[in-house]
Amino acid sequence: MFIRNGWYVAAAAGEVGRSLLARWICGEPVVMFRKEEGAPVALEDRCPHRKTQLSLGSLAGDEVQCLYHGLRFDCDGACTFIPGQDNIPPRLKARAYPLFEKYTWLWIWLGDPALADPDSIPDYHWNDAPGWTPVGGYLNFRADYRLLVDNLLDLTHETYVHARTIGNMAVAHTPQQTEVDGDIVRVTRLMKDCNPPPLFKRARGIAGNIDRWQKIRFEPPAHIKIDAGGAPVSPAEKDKVLNWWILNALTPETERSTHYFWAVSRNFSQDDEDLSKMVHQQTVQTFEEDRDVLESQQRMIETDPSGGTLLAINCDAGGVAARRIIDARVRAEAA
Ligand code: FES
Ligand SMILES: [Fe+2]
Repeated sequence: MFIRNGWYVAAAAGEVGRSLLARWICGEPVVMFRKEEGAPVALEDRCPHRKTQLSLGSLAGDEVQCLYHGLRFDCDGACTFIPGQDNIPPRLKARAYPLFEKYTWLWIWLGDPALADPDSIPDYHWNDAPGWTPVGGYLNFRADYRLLVDNLLDLTHETYVHARTIGNMAVAHTPQQTEVDGDIVRVTRLMKDCNPPPLFKRARGIAGNIDRWQKIRFEPPAHIKIDAGGAPVSPAEKDKVLNWWILNALTPETERSTHYFWAVSRNFSQDDEDLSKMVHQQTVQTFEEDRDVLESQQRMIETDPSGGTLLAINCDAGGVAARRIIDARVRAEAA
């Protein structure tokens, strides 16, 4: 169910330091920390000796010391020390995962390390590039990550779920175009001369109508970036164009839960801290509305005696295409 040869966000860069952070990723227990010189490290969070969680132990320099019997492991997972025993069997080795810091996040590769090319980390430069001001955070959803993929590739639900922030009627009433290009899915919705949603009015002070756009891009394993905005129709408001990128890095935690690393990065009023606070608060509110729907959906799918088959209508085209790409990648890795 999970792509392993792909980059997932394992943590925000600031979460990992000189202590042991435990996190499940795609059903695998991972422990992360930083070396004394700062480089991030990820090991399987399971002691090769008797399977205790390594994250219960402690750091000794750049080595992890297991809490249970004091064995030590270096950053490659190799055992370096057994109390009272000189010979170290080579099979006493914890798995080490490639882990890189980029765009304010830490990126992990769970699959074949020989294929882990840091140049193929998905582009999230809006997180730290000049000209952009991001706000962001982390949420944990008790739902299959593919339900989040469906949700973000079909923003029709904004009209109904997010009426208080980003929903307007134009979203539900304007059909979207879906294109598939190899492993990339693009969903575009252009809404001409429509009423701005509440958050657009608050963020930009737009009074009249806007030409609104949503350009969504999915790439595997589960990265969804949305170029969203509105351009006022009235020439008197031409300087109030709103453009932000909604960045969604989805990392499965288990088959039924997801780490959700998100950011909203804007290219206007960059130094306005009150605006940043407001956008952060409103985005969290919006995503909490999604959480209520998706966690309920997860429970109903799991408990559906008829097997939980999902039906698709036009607006599901993007999610259906993304699931096909994920399934094909998972099958190819299994083969
Ligand atoms: S279980 Fe880790 S040292 Fe024994
Ligand atoms: Fe939503």
